[in-house]
Amino acid sequence: MDRLRDKVVIVTGAGSGIGRAAAELMGREGAGVLVADHDADAARAVAGGIGDGGGRAVPYTVDVTDEESVAAMVETAVGEYGRLDALCNHVGGTDPRKDLDLLRLDMAEFDRAVDLNVRSTLAGTRHALPHLIRAGGGSIVNTASVAGLLGDSLQISYGAVKAAVISVTRYVAVQYGPRGVRCNAVAPGAVMTPALRDNLPPEVIERLEGHNALPYLGTPQDIGNVMLFLASDESRYLTGQVIVVDGGMTCRSPAAADRGGPPSPAG
Ligand SMILES: NC(=O)c1ccc[n+]([C@@H]2O[C@H](COP(=O)([O-])OP(=O)(O)OC[C@H]3O[C@@H](n4cnc5c(N)ncnc54)[C@H](O)[C@@H]3O)[C@@H](O)[C@H]2O)c1
Repeated sequence: MDRLRDKVVIVTGAGSGIGRAAAELMGREGAGVLVADHDADAARAVAGGIGDGGGRAVPYTVDVTDEESVAAMVETAVGEYGRLDALCNHVGGTDPRKDLDLLRLDMAEFDRAVDLNVRSTLAGTRHALPHLIRAGGGSIVNTASVAGLLGDSLQISYGAVKAAVISVTRYVAVQYGPRGVRCNAVAPGAVMTPALRDNLPPEVIERLEGHNALPYLGTPQDIGNVMLFLASDESRYLTGQVIVVDGGMTCRSPAAADRGGPPSPAG
């Protein structure tokens, strides 16, 4: 229960889904958590839950597309807890109704996606770095996606901005590794969050599951556990990496037979 003892972390997008799971897991492991989200009620509820469980958490209302708001978020964490050890730049995504193939792409949605996914990550990292360095180094955990590693028939903006998040991760790792700061990304595959469940019909969810090597979809906790590991000193020799957490979706050859279990032993 002490994997993040004495550490202070900020998780953006912590009001729901994966970010919520990460914040709760980190709170349970002893961190002081700034639960940062656009949705003030959600942030309050998650922070309250962590507190009820005996952890330390403070809610914070942030808009990660507004650099002043991001700067104030970092200062609040340091003001509350006196230091900063990890920042999870988790907010991201695009609107699937506007993020289509290139010829049908809404360019305003592309610009919004850059702000929400990439600029937010740069801004959070810039404001956190001096505090992380002061604390003797620390960990930045960015949320990418397998979409940033592959091509797809839709959501070209999403793929492009998540690829940019991966690139930023490597540059920050190289530029600030000498000061003791680590920077890694998680690249989730399909994860059963409220957003996924509410936006996709059951047959599409079933199809997504069918692409995995494992016979199930991930939960927010599956990704949150990897974020916890990356925030902790257990990953102290790990930087500039993209950890793919996708149930084996991207390891499968397209030529692999449909899942049906391993062949029976001969005889
Ligand atoms: N769910 C998946 O299958 C999946 C897969 C790959 C990557 N991801 C990535 O995970 C991240 C979030 O996904 P999730 O499933 O946890 O989503 P979610 O919709 O459950 O939660 C997102 C949270 O971010 C908050 N938010 C939205 N805009 C904000 C803003 N401008 N400032 C501050 N907070 C804001 C929302 O209020 C919400 O609480 C994204 O970066 C997404 O691309 C998700």
